[in-house]
Amino acid sequence: MVDITTELAGIKLKNPTILASGVLGETGSSLKKVFRAGAAALTTKSIGLEPRDGHTNPTIVELEFGILNAMGLPNPGIEMYLDELREVVKDGFPVIGSIFGKDPNEFSKLAGIMADNGVSAIELNLSCPHALGYGAELGAIPEMVKTITEQVKNTMTKPVFVKLTPNTSDIVALGNAAVKGGCDGLVAINTVKGMALSPELGKPILSNKIGGYSGPAIKPIGLRCVYELGTAGLGVPIIGVGGISSGKDIAEYLMAGATAVQIGTAVYYHGVDIFTAVITELKEFMTMHEFKNIQELIGLAI
Ligand code: SIN
Repeated sequence: MVDITTELAGIKLKNPTILASGVLGETGSSLKKVFRAGAAALTTKSIGLEPRDGHTNPTIVELEFGILNAMGLPNPGIEMYLDELREVVKDGFPVIGSIFGKDPNEFSKLAGIMADNGVSAIELNLSCPHALGYGAELGAIPEMVKTITEQVKNTMTKPVFVKLTPNTSDIVALGNAAVKGGCDGLVAINTVKGMALSPELGKPILSNKIGGYSGPAIKPIGLRCVYELGTAGLGVPIIGVGGISSGKDIAEYLMAGATAVQIGTAVYYHGVDIFTAVITELKEFMTMHEFKNIQELIGLAI
């Protein structure tokens, strides 16, 4: 028997898999399916203070090795979202509330509301690559990352994870800023800025022109970022995300320094049963290579 339990800032996880933000829509009932499939925790869609339509269609295009999206942070606003949130937290599974804002005040207000409504932790979306005034526009500036994290931490006691952008020349500087702000964990990575073009139409496919690329093609980028953060020894756990769709992918992220992983685009391709599959594969991999527990894998490649 291998032990695949792990822990993130005091949150006990029965295995290292977490649903990534933005997959499976916003309803409580659809989100809860991941727990039945075996995921240890889930991250909500990123929620803001006010309702937001997001970008006009087309907002998503499936490419050869991944998906390009420019949803534009559509969401019903925190007040309208609370019913869905309560529906998922009431069963006692760990829920990470993802939030976005335009400044530190918006972030701390949202974090407080999420915390009051039962989430186990907060994830600060400082990395969406295609929403004017939000996400990576704030999250690519280390001082802003520190200030936002600090203000959120000052107003609450629940763990705060910061989701970092890979669209930077120095992800360690961003991670370091989040740690200086008092974060309890780093999430690496959000999508990689990209574009898809229709040669027939002679123009970009997405209405926003530029979007964020996810899926198998970005796994080497995610691994590199986790490895750089892990090597820097910042003293907080790292949650790896980017192109994970097998047990071996999870093992690689753990070896690069992650304590847990998030799975997103693979759910789009394979449905929630991907969690059952990758957990079985991870156990098989560990048994075959005589690993007894997850701790033996974490940071092995560093
Ligand atoms: C979106 O809703 O635009 C995607 C969220 C993200 O990229 O962080």
